[in-house]
Amino acid sequence: MAASDCVVIILAAGKGTRMRSEQAKVLHVAGGLPLLEHVVRACRALKPAQIIAVVGHQADVVGPVAERLGAKTVVQQPQRGTGHALQIARRAIRGNAKLAIVLPGDAPLVRTETLKNLLDTHRRGEAAASILSAELDDPREYGRIVRDSEGRVQAIVEEKSATEQQKLIREVNSSFYCFTLAKLWPCLNALRPDNAHKELYLTDAIGLLRERSERVLAEIAPDPKEIFGCNTRMQLAEIDRILRARKTAQLMDAGTTIYLPETVVIDADVTAGADTVIEPGVHLLGNTHIGARCHVGTGCVLKDMRVDDDANILPHCVFESSRIGSGTNLGPFTRLRPGADLRANVHLGNFVEVKNSVVGEGSKANHLTYIGDATVGKKSNIGAGTITCNYDGVAKHKTVIGDQVFIGSDSALVAPVRIGSGAYVAAGSVVTDNVPPDALAIARGRQVNKKGWAKAKRAEMARAKHTKAKPPTRKSRR
Ligand code: UD1
Ligand code: CA
Repeated sequence: MAASDCVVIILAAGKGTRMRSEQAKVLHVAGGLPLLEHVVRACRALKPAQIIAVVGHQADVVGPVAERLGAKTVVQQPQRGTGHALQIARRAIRGNAKLAIVLPGDAPLVRTETLKNLLDTHRRGEAAASILSAELDDPREYGRIVRDSEGRVQAIVEEKSATEQQKLIREVNSSFYCFTLAKLWPCLNALRPDNAHKELYLTDAIGLLRERSERVLAEIAPDPKEIFGCNTRMQLAEIDRILRARKTAQLMDAGTTIYLPETVVIDADVTAGADTVIEPGVHLLGNTHIGARCHVGTGCVLKDMRVDDDANILPHCVFESSRIGSGTNLGPFTRLRPGADLRANVHLGNFVEVKNSVVGEGSKANHLTYIGDATVGKKSNIGAGTITCNYDGVAKHKTVIGDQVFIGSDSALVAPVRIGSGAYVAAGSVVTDNVPPDALAIARGRQVNKKGWAKAKRAEMARAKHTKAKPPTRKSRR
C-alpha cells in the first residue's frame, strides 16, 4: 500500500548523554551505517510523502547528514521533550498529509515491514493513534502501556510517574507511533510539562486522545528486538551484532557460503554473488561488491572494492577502493591501495602492494613487489622484489610497462620510465632510461669472478687466527 498520505517524523534532537560521546548519538555507526541512516532507509521504503527529521543537539552536524539521506530537517532548540519535538515538526509538513509515522532516530533495528503493519493496523482500525508496543522481560526505563479491563489502551505512563502496580506491566511503548494528524494537533497543544523532567511528553497525548474518546490501538511487535534503542555503548555493540547477523543471513539466503558467520563483519551495502565462499574472520566493508564463485580467505579486509567473478583471494589481504577482474589469484598478504585496477587473470602474491595502477590481463607479480602509479600491460611478469620508484621526494611519476615484459627480480624502475612491450630487464637492474620494445636492459655493475680468491682469503684468515689464539708457553708465563 502506498503511503502518499503519510509523513514520517524522525525524532533525533536528543543528546544521548549515556553514550558519553562528543559525537551525536544518531551518528554512531552500527552495521556499517550511522544509526540514523538505518532508520531513514527503513522509512524510505514506505514511500511516504515526506520524511522530516527533528534535530537539535549538534544540529549543525546531524542536519546535513539527515538532508543527504533525503530527509527535511527542522531544528528543535531547546529540546523540551518528545511532544515539543512534534510541535516543531508540524511546521515542516507540506501538502495535505493525513497521517504521520513517528519514530526515534536511535532505534535502527526496525524493519519496513513492521512500520507498514503499524500503518495498516492504524488505517484498518480507523484509529487516532496506533502505538507499536513490545513485551519485555525487563521493562525498566520504558513507558508502560496501560490498558483498561477490556484491553483498550488508556494511557502511556513513564517509568518515573508509574505506580508500583504499573511498573509490573511488561508491555512497553517503543516510541514508534502512527497518528491521524487532525486528531493529534489539538492534543499536542494541550500538553503540559507537569512531570519529573518539566518536558512536553508525546506520551501524554495518548491519555488526552482517550479523554476525548478517540480510538487508540497498540500493536505488539512480533520481535521485541526491533524496538531496541541505543542509549549506551553496550547497546551499540548489541545492535551492531544483530545488524551483522541479519546481513550474513541475507547473503547466505541469496547463495553465498559464509563459514562461522558470527566471526565475519559485513557492512549493510555489501553484495556477494552465488557460490562465493567467505571464510571466517573476513571483513567486507563500505560499498564492496563481490561477484559469483569467488573465494575470500580468512582474515581479508576489503573496503569499497569491486571484485568480479571467480576471483580467488587467499588469506590476509587488505584491499581498498580498487577493482579486481575475473579469475584473478591474489594473496596471501597482498595489499591494494586506492585505484588499483587488476584486469582478468592477474596473479599477485605475498607482500605485493599495488596503488593507483592498472595491471593488465594475465600479468603476474608473485612476490615482494611495489607497483605504484604504473600501468602494466598484458601477460607481463614482474619478478620478486621489483619496485616502481614513483616518488622523487617532491612529485609522483608514472611507470609504463608494456605487454609480455619480463622484469627480473630485485629491479628498481625509476619513474618516469617506460619499458616497451616484449622487453626484458635483467635482475638487479636500476632502470632510469626508457627500454625499447623487445630489448634487454641490464643496468647494474658487471660481475667479476676472481679465481681462487676465496680459498686464498680463508687460508690467510686461518693463519691470523692461529697466531692470535696460540696459548702462551710455560716459559712466557713466568
Ligand atoms: C521515550 C518515551 C517512552 C518510551 C521510550 C522508548 C517519551 C516521554 N517517552 O522515552 O515512553 O518507552 O522513548 O525508547 O516520549 N527527542 C527529541 N526532542 C526532545 C526529546 C527527545 O527529538 O526534546 C528524541 C530523542 O532524540 C530520541 C527520542 O526523541 O530519539 C526519544 O527521546 P528519549 O529522551 O530517548 O525518550 P525516552 O526517555 O527514552
Ligand atoms: Ca531513549
